[in-house]
Amino acid sequence: MQNQSFTSARRALAEKLSLFLNHNEANAESWRWFEEGLGWGRARIIAHGEELVTEDIENQLAVWLDRRARGEPWAYILGWTTWRGRRFNVTPATLIPRPETEFVLESAIELAVQIGARRVVDVGAGAGILAVTLALETNLDVTATDISPKALAAAKQNAREHGVNITWLSGDLLASVPDPVDLVVSNPPYVDPKDKATLQRELFFEPAEALFAPDRGLEVITRLLEQCFERKARGLVIEIGSGQGDELSLRASKIGWQVIEIKQDTAKHDRVLVARAIQ
Ligand SMILES: C[S@@+](CC[C@H](N)C(=O)[O-])C[C@H]1O[C@@H](n2cnc3c(N)ncnc32)[C@H](O)[C@@H]1O
Repeated sequence: MQNQSFTSARRALAEKLSLFLNHNEANAESWRWFEEGLGWGRARIIAHGEELVTEDIENQLAVWLDRRARGEPWAYILGWTTWRGRRFNVTPATLIPRPETEFVLESAIELAVQIGARRVVDVGAGAGILAVTLALETNLDVTATDISPKALAAAKQNAREHGVNITWLSGDLLASVPDPVDLVVSNPPYVDPKDKATLQRELFFEPAEALFAPDRGLEVITRLLEQCFERKARGLVIEIGSGQGDELSLRASKIGWQVIEIKQDTAKHDRVLVARAIQ
């Protein structure tokens, strides 16, 4: 349709998105498309919303809508997202950062202060949100690893854009990390592959190795608990899935970790495992 104003095009988009999103999500996402994708935020629409949308913009919206209707997340269509108020590039090789991972970051900063850590290793860096934010918000010496070379390339780009210095290593968990390992932070894959059938279709656009782990989702976390203990890490902060806290506490104490805490998020779901060794 030609000659639509920005105000009516934004409303029309919200209606089209509501064919596959709930009403509130569709409305919020339509504003994000205009703001992040077209540079037309709320203030500009309020002030100049009667301006007419060009044919190029209409075509662009149609292309995005076609991709989104197939389930592709907006962050992949756009190529970036914001996390903790900062912009991070995302690619199909990286997980799209989730707001709840801020709780992991904050727990890691708290533990770093408690144990007087000087060095932190982010295991499974993905787009690099934890590593980059730790480098920006603390004085810790930051190392980050990932098993996916493509994810590491995206993370390095994000670090360059934020102007931070991080040591990047490629490999399985701590395999490529030299001693000493002091504090470890990680948001590893922890989804049970058996839950695949119940997951939102958007998740299938994200890399499987970022989401799923064998042994009911616990295999990667268990190996990380073992490796960190063997390598004499002084502290460990790991994002975990809802309902995984009891089993993981048990496994952590069998491995030898002495101080283990499961933290729940605001929705009262197990979200973070903190383990410490008594020196
Ligand atoms: C859930 S994503 C987390 C990404 C990012 N840290 C975040 O919080 O948004 C998990 C990441 O772990 C990586 N990964 C999976 N298995 C791994 C392993 N065995 N060793 C190292 N990294 C691994 C994946 O490639 C993915 O980038």
